[in-house]
Amino acid sequence: MTSSSRRYHITTFGCQMNKADSERMAGILENMGFEWSEDPNDASVILYNTCTIRDNAEQKVYSYLGRQAKRKHKEPDLTLVVAGCVAQQEGKELLRRVPELDLVMGPQHANRLKDLLESVFDGNQLVATEEVHIFEDITQPRRDSKVTAWVNVIYGCNERCTYCVVPNVRGVEQSRTPEAIRAEIETLGKQGYKEITLLGQNIDAYGRDLPGSTPEGRHLHTLTDLLYFVHDVPGIERIRFATSHPRYFTERLIKACAELPKVCEHFHIPFQSGDNQLLKAMSRGYTTEKYRRIIDTIRKYMPDAAISADAIVGFPGETEEQFENTLKLVDDIGFDLLNTAAYSPRPGTPAAMWDNQLSEEVKSDRLQRLNHLVGIKAAERSQRYSGRIEEVLVEDQNSKDKTQVMGRTRGNRLTFFPGDIQELKGKIVKVKITEVRAFSLTGEVGEW
Ligand code: SAH
Ligand code: SF4
Ligand code: F3S
Repeated sequence: MTSSSRRYHITTFGCQMNKADSERMAGILENMGFEWSEDPNDASVILYNTCTIRDNAEQKVYSYLGRQAKRKHKEPDLTLVVAGCVAQQEGKELLRRVPELDLVMGPQHANRLKDLLESVFDGNQLVATEEVHIFEDITQPRRDSKVTAWVNVIYGCNERCTYCVVPNVRGVEQSRTPEAIRAEIETLGKQGYKEITLLGQNIDAYGRDLPGSTPEGRHLHTLTDLLYFVHDVPGIERIRFATSHPRYFTERLIKACAELPKVCEHFHIPFQSGDNQLLKAMSRGYTTEKYRRIIDTIRKYMPDAAISADAIVGFPGETEEQFENTLKLVDDIGFDLLNTAAYSPRPGTPAAMWDNQLSEEVKSDRLQRLNHLVGIKAAERSQRYSGRIEEVLVEDQNSKDKTQVMGRTRGNRLTFFPGDIQELKGKIVKVKITEVRAFSLTGEVGEW
């Protein structure tokens, strides 16, 4: 192989799990002697780490793939890999659809990339989608940021929300041990990382599959215990976690967040719908009353906490009145950020088979109305920052204005202020907020 043929490119779609998996796979490729190429057309190994949460996410990858499949006719040495959730969902079917593919690999196989690629280089075309026990990875990930890092704590999901493909494509819950998690965080602390985000699709399930329970019958390893266990790792100044499930969210966890200074006052707790009947149809396992109680309890302990969530509009059978209950919840709670989506029927999920699907017109109309309210509420929430002094962890330059840097407040608000990135990267700076917008802030440093 020539030196230019030892270059790889990864395009990542989807959620933070996929981003974390891509960083691990990039680490494996670099370990194998490949170099990163920003431009896929200069790379000899191209990997698409895919998402199938909604149909439009899935369709994206096919258009990307089509272009590279054509290129392969001229450059037969090109290696094409589809990883992630579309790979898991489609499996062999993907090879039929795109015969130019060399490797189709599900998310549970991310750590096996080296072995799989070696087999491809030996001339095989592979599909790796069987359920496996995820082994600890000894390769260092190639992380995109030098300041903040993802740390997987639990893979998979055992819930069965009726709209969701994740359990089908990510498999059953598998928790990493507290020791392995702490060891990874210690390495990050030594490498100069300042902030970590503990990751799981349903992070409140952490530890359920690990052995051991307390005399009262509580699992020995819960997310709360994990927070206490990793809290004192030197060098790490901020800890976040996502995604929380209202069904399992505990007051014990809220107390721990209030008590532990490094844990940021930001909670991402998707509610999906503001209507109890719909929550039932979605098999979410809680009511809006319970959701409101959780938020009240968080605000009792941490009045300034930032709250974000996900919501779906146009779930099968959703009436105008039920949709308005979602608007009402959003209006009452006042989210700092809300990710919204129109319901998209997914293969292999129960709700996709129901005959009470709504039209695209109704779904997109509701999505627009919800988004309008979300913007108004987020702008209201931003107001409280006006004139305040906030701790901002500087991550990068402001890509739109190089005289400014960007970072986040403890509540996860994106914040820009004038400054030199060389000097400030990775530092926590006290910033006076001078301008507020719905989803970001601008400020200045001074002698506060
Ligand atoms: N584990 C998280 C969410 C994972 S998926 C949780 O339980 O909340 C991320 C978000 O995508 C979900 O919160 C949901 O709002 C959205 N989503 C999932 N399936 C969807 C579907 N079929 N159609 C539209 N949105 C969907
Ligand atoms: Fe999907 Fe529900 Fe699991 Fe979240 S908790 S990943 S929405 S099945
Ligand atoms: Fe998408 Fe898979 Fe994440 S479907 S949202 S990349 S778990």
